[in-house]
Amino acid sequence: MSSELLRQIRENESGVPTHVAVIMDGNGRWANERGLPRYEGHRAGMKSVREVVEGAVEVGVEVLTLYAFSQENWQRPRREIAFLMSLLKTYAKSELQDLVDHGVEVHVVGEVERFAAPERKAIETIIDATRGGEHLQLVLAISYGSRSEIVEATRRLARRVAAGQLEADRIDEAAFAAELYTAAWPDPDLMIRTSGEYRISNFLLWQLAYTELYTTPVLWPDFNREHLFEAILEYQRRERRFGRVNQ
Ligand code: FPP
Repeated sequence: MSSELLRQIRENESGVPTHVAVIMDGNGRWANERGLPRYEGHRAGMKSVREVVEGAVEVGVEVLTLYAFSQENWQRPRREIAFLMSLLKTYAKSELQDLVDHGVEVHVVGEVERFAAPERKAIETIIDATRGGEHLQLVLAISYGSRSEIVEATRRLARRVAAGQLEADRIDEAAFAAELYTAAWPDPDLMIRTSGEYRISNFLLWQLAYTELYTTPVLWPDFNREHLFEAILEYQRRERRFGRVNQ
């Protein structure tokens, strides 16, 4: 099944999206439906992370950004946060070799300063150990909030103006984008949100300006590489015009 979808994607002249971003949603509902505590949904969601990372490598996506923990998520119950932190550390350990073997280079965007030392260490370790991976840039958005990313970029530009290093009139879109966490990567071509919600939830507000949005009712722990391939096929069917008219 997945090899048939892969064949269809490869044969399509629209090409594979370079950058895919994902809002992984529905872990809590998945657990509720099974009478399990919410954290079991997060645990099950790890398998889907593995699936989409491997699927992205298989299909030739170059950048995959996963929204793993938002700034708003700090307001969840302490025990749930603690569980998510332990999952992050587990992920950094248990997946490390696989990520290296698949040529995945890990990056983290977000307010990493808010994490305790063990989580920061786990993040540093996975970044260092995967450096140089050539097949996929895996960007984990953790303690991430797009509005504060934009505010921070504005502050940095304002400081350079105040210091006389930059003229205000020279600030253009490229100069602004260069101050965002995501400066190193192209904007997402496709953004997937699971669990049937139609919201952006403070994720990549600037970067999603021309991105194709795809939502699916599938809950994150049920999402697998075939679902990723279906989303890419749907993306290939769309006509991207970037505000222009196609002749
Ligand atoms: C949203 O579901 C999911 C999260 C807040 C956490 C996502 C984390 C993982 C999938 C595992 C860890 C991943 C990595 C990369 C280490 P929700 O709890 O908002 O679900 P609900 O809307 O059904 O309540």
